[in-house]
Amino acid sequence: MTSLDARLGDVSAELPVTDGTIRATELKQFATDRGPLMTYDPGFANTAACRSSITFIDGDAGILEYRGYPIEQLAKESTFLETAYLLLGGQVPVGDELTAWVDDVNHHRLIHENVKDIIKSFRYDAHPMSKLMAAVASLMSFYPESRDISNADIRFQNTVRLLAKMPTIAAYAYRHSLGREYVQPVDDLGFVENFLAMMFKQQQRQFAADPRLVKAVEVLFILHADHEQNCSTTAVRTVASAGNDPYTSIGAGIGALFGPAHGGANEAVLKMLREINSVDNVPEFIEGVKNGKGRLMGFGHRVYKNYDPRARVIKAAADDVFEVTGVNPLLRIAVELEKIALEDEYFISRKLYPNVDFYSGLIYEALGLPPEMFTVMFAVPRTAGWLAQWEEQVSDPDQRIIRPQQIYTGARALDYIVG
Ligand code: CMC
Repeated sequence: MTSLDARLGDVSAELPVTDGTIRATELKQFATDRGPLMTYDPGFANTAACRSSITFIDGDAGILEYRGYPIEQLAKESTFLETAYLLLGGQVPVGDELTAWVDDVNHHRLIHENVKDIIKSFRYDAHPMSKLMAAVASLMSFYPESRDISNADIRFQNTVRLLAKMPTIAAYAYRHSLGREYVQPVDDLGFVENFLAMMFKQQQRQFAADPRLVKAVEVLFILHADHEQNCSTTAVRTVASAGNDPYTSIGAGIGALFGPAHGGANEAVLKMLREINSVDNVPEFIEGVKNGKGRLMGFGHRVYKNYDPRARVIKAAADDVFEVTGVNPLLRIAVELEKIALEDEYFISRKLYPNVDFYSGLIYEALGLPPEMFTVMFAVPRTAGWLAQWEEQVSDPDQRIIRPQQIYTGARALDYIVG
């Protein structure tokens, strides 16, 4: 352990410094005459709130690993359910362990009729993220034992339940907006195949998605499964820190993900590409962004100051999808935007590169999904990461209720005079 010699006025202290993947000190050990020294850190960009062994990111080098495995290898070799198991349990599942895990998740795919009614009670044009958030949060009342977060077996059982039910809820939220009936999950279909069938099945006796599309969605799901302490994960951990079950905690995470600066960016990218409308309009749009007229959606990241490794894998997956569906005409605009932005001093000096959302929306659109569903397509796989982070949060003895400080800037001790 290294240390930091700190001095403020005539007070000094030797502070411990954790020298891990980041260097962080514990300012609470610096006692001043007005209590321990604090940090002022809006957006917590400079604050580590937990120790975690789930996901590693080196934003400068563009590296992302789950439990030590590079994202590129997982995208190539793993399935979403194997990756989910890895995130949750720390190990790649093999043999009987894998069979039992897959069976367990398959077994819990159904949702209670009343959960369907919750979704049905929304207006036909309600945003599917609202339906998802409400349905997931409601699950706590169907499984009240999930409130006992001190019991590891109960925690695991409800983790499996939520992971399994998420695609069913997401698919029904989508079909409800089309006025289509609910499609039952099918036991012998894999996680992604079954999800696509629940979304797209119409009058066929059996819906069989093209295996190339199944593989592309599997890859997208793996890429989106976790991303350490992002906004929605921090929301999940914050709600969990008050002693909450996974459904309540992840309901909050879904709300955070909905924001256009976070998971909502994939929807915003598509809207932006449509507004640009033609490759010829790209230079004018870029000039507008540089002059403060909005942001280039799908660009920039709090952590990556290099090409987002997920964006690279997604670009390759997009080619596979377009082979089946035909090329999305918006792709040309996206490619031109990327080319111009990567050569422009504004974006270079701020280290703004394409992120995971820049190309994912084009794939979702090619699958036939409306933009409102794109963030739902992010939430389904991110549930694996949220659950892993929730488990780590509630079982970490260092953790306490999350409750930051403030620097108060308002009036003080006024006299309240009526009339
Ligand atoms: N377009 C234009 N300028 C940008 C962009 C962008 N997309 N992103 C950041 N900047 C500029 C920003 O104006 C600021 O410039 P200046 O220093 O002159 O004031 C500088 O870059 C730093 O920006 P910041 O807002 O301090 O950076 P941040 O780390 O707080 O924000 C971000 C990160 C992802 C919210 C931001 O880059 C952004 O809004 N990007 C567009 C939305 C987006 O694609 N979000 C998806 C993120 S990846 C998926 C996920 O994690 O959910």
